[in-house]
Amino acid sequence: MSDLRRELYRGKSKTVYEIGSESELLVQFRDDATAHNAAKHAILADKGRTNSAVDGFIMQILAEQGIKTHWLKRISETEIIVRRLDMIPVECVLRNRAAGGICKRLGLEKGRSFAPPIFEFFFKDDALGDPLINTAHILSLNWATEAEILGMKALTHQVNAILTPIFDQAGFILVDFKLEFGRYQGELILGDEFTLDGCRLWDKVSAEIYDKDRFRQDLGDVIAFYQKAASRLGVPLKV
Ligand SMILES: Nc1ncnc2c1ncn2[C@@H]1O[C@H](COP(=O)(O)OP(=O)(O)O)[C@@H](O)[C@H]1O
Ligand SMILES: [Mg+2]
Repeated sequence: MSDLRRELYRGKSKTVYEIGSESELLVQFRDDATAHNAAKHAILADKGRTNSAVDGFIMQILAEQGIKTHWLKRISETEIIVRRLDMIPVECVLRNRAAGGICKRLGLEKGRSFAPPIFEFFFKDDALGDPLINTAHILSLNWATEAEILGMKALTHQVNAILTPIFDQAGFILVDFKLEFGRYQGELILGDEFTLDGCRLWDKVSAEIYDKDRFRQDLGDVIAFYQKAASRLGVPLKV
């Protein structure tokens, strides 16, 4: 397979390769960590393997629960095969509690609950700092159709309903998370990843942080905490 490999896109934390198939891609999870729109960067040993393990575990749970995802198989500790999607350039964020950007934007106290949870769209563009947008921008700029917009919102809420109790049983609060979707044969499919880079996870009792805020805020032991979370969730780190 490596003979046919051709780099298509090198992102901030993953590299995407063509593998001689029209419909499939190889995604490699690297050890790179970035924050604050890539102003901060580090290599964190074992991050790629840990993220790929957590991602595969979550993607398989979602698929079992009827969510269509791009994830097909894990072929090494850091590499997966996925369906090749026509990505929609927006990030779908679901917030069960206030943390990060929304606290600053709306003057909210960190940790306050949202009932119902808040869904937000952001334009995926690092140079612009991933600005908050609404459905009007997506429609008028032809990034997605009305049906796709409704689909992304509904699927993101469904993912929250599936994952919140799973994290709760492992003793965690799923504070918020980010998803990306794309099109595959006319259908809306969950793409990209679900890892501790793209969600916030707090211990239910101690409120200790187990997600990428450890890196953003220089709390240390980033990957040790990712692995503690994985272990509490029952994620096998080996392939
Ligand atoms: N199934 C897929 N098909 C095509 N592109 C994908 C798929 N899943 C994720 N992507 C894209 O591949 C890139 C993954 O690498 P990443 O390091 O996350 O990049 P970025 O810095 O752009 O977020 C992202 O741009 C993401 O939108
Ligand atoms: Mg990304």
